[in-house]
Amino acid sequence: MNVLIFESPDEATKAAFDIVMQRLETGLQTMGLATGSTPLKLYEKLRNTDTDVSHVTTVNLDEYVGLEPTDPQSYNYYMNEELFKYMNFAATYVPNGAVEDPEKECERYEEILKKNPVDLQILGMGPNGHIGFNEPGTSFDSVTHIAELTASTREANKRFFEKEEQVPTKAITMGISSILSAKEVLMLAFGESKAEAVRSMIDEPVTEGCPASVLQNHSNAVIILDKEAASKLE
Ligand code: F6R
Repeated sequence: MNVLIFESPDEATKAAFDIVMQRLETGLQTMGLATGSTPLKLYEKLRNTDTDVSHVTTVNLDEYVGLEPTDPQSYNYYMNEELFKYMNFAATYVPNGAVEDPEKECERYEEILKKNPVDLQILGMGPNGHIGFNEPGTSFDSVTHIAELTASTREANKRFFEKEEQVPTKAITMGISSILSAKEVLMLAFGESKAEAVRSMIDEPVTEGCPASVLQNHSNAVIILDKEAASKLE
């Protein structure tokens, strides 16, 4: 893992943006994307460029089960609003959480991933070390599947909903093995609330108890932190 630490989330985002732009300029074909608050500024910077991405396909990590793609809380909606509607991507894929048979959707999505091997995967992490919606204890061999959200993840995500009861209990997520097959991973983590998970990811042995720690096994993972997220590192 290549760990880079910056004074502020803005400086960290600028470093991530420079990497993404460099890859876009040198033939990147498929980019893996995350939602959440961490990459928002990165997407803002990207959508304010006039970069031609007509040769680039995007695949997102996850989506809540039960939300229509047009639901303002859905990750489909988030991606359209934050990025897709501004840029001319060749194709954009986000799991559909509103289908009748979510298991089938997982299979369909895994096929999409096989046809579009990810060159660069953008990742955020949960305060419990989750990546995508792969919660602690998820097998490192997992492919796209339905995940039950833990109480702590529902708690962390309730800020995006009016009431806690509205936070879905399940999500479709790329599995850890699907995520790990990206040629390069760019993990962003900002703020004190991530510091403990960042420490486990980097300083502790690799364990399914901290899904993000699997990045130690990836041959090309860049971890971009602000100083608060890095504050518990040895
Ligand atoms: C979102 C995702 C999640 C988030 C994580 C951090 O697509 O896969 O793993 O990256 O929950 O969320 P924020 O950035 O809101 O702290």
